[in-house]
Amino acid sequence: MTYQGIAIFHIGNDKVVEGHVLGDTETLKRQLVRGEIAAVAKELPRNFNISLASEREEEWAADVMSRSEPWKTLGRSFDSSLQSMRNPNCSLLVARGENAGPIGFMLIQSEGVAGSPYIKSVAVEEPFRGAGVGTQLLQFADAIFQRRANHIFICVSSFNKKARALYERLGYTIIAELREYIVPGASELLMHKTLPKTIPAVEQICGV
Ligand SMILES: CC(C)(COP(=O)(O)OP(=O)(O)OC[C@H]1O[C@@H](n2cnc3c(N)ncnc32)[C@H](O)[C@@H]1OP(=O)(O)O)[C@@H](O)C(=O)NCCC(=O)NCCS
Repeated sequence: MTYQGIAIFHIGNDKVVEGHVLGDTETLKRQLVRGEIAAVAKELPRNFNISLASEREEEWAADVMSRSEPWKTLGRSFDSSLQSMRNPNCSLLVARGENAGPIGFMLIQSEGVAGSPYIKSVAVEEPFRGAGVGTQLLQFADAIFQRRANHIFICVSSFNKKARALYERLGYTIIAELREYIVPGASELLMHKTLPKTIPAVEQICGV
């Protein structure tokens, strides 16, 4: 990816203290999120990694989605799942174990709900569930976004009690119920969490 524009940063005490941006700010924002993903990934245990998905992993994630609940009940096909994984406004992250292929994914949209980050989907391959991979992925999202946002959102289907319990354990609370939003007889529950305040991200300093 290349950045079509000019970005001038003033660095003081190893931090960006002032910035000015001219040109394609959307691409710059995407690049900054990529940089944050790489930085947070360095903090993970050595036997586990999370990074942006390859094209093959996009297909793998679409396959997992189309054969897993809740998406089977919600009527997600492989093709619509793949379209979602390739949405240019989103980033698809994949978790891999030591000497293992992909075992979990998370699709994130940095300005998905009212300008705040939104976790669109998260899933772990069935044999690897209950071992903390989902928790690691969700905590990874907090770490990426906590410098650029105060709020983060996720949605869960009303019948997905286990995922809802996990999100509540990680600090999310339900703030809205969208009745029969996707299928009759079920609601989508919008959940929210406040992120801890840290030093501001580059784009807040630059105002992009
Ligand atoms: C929800 C999901 C991503 C959690 O990933 P995970 O790696 O199993 O999560 P963790 O191991 O970090 O945490 C497990 C916790 O989540 C809960 N959980 C949620 N769904 C679970 C499942 N299908 N199997 C086992 N545990 C599940 C457990 O109650 C457990 O809670 P505990 O730690 O208090 O015992 C994963 O179970 C999954 O892919 N489910 C199917 C797809 C899905 O529902 N995605 C969410 C759509 S909104």
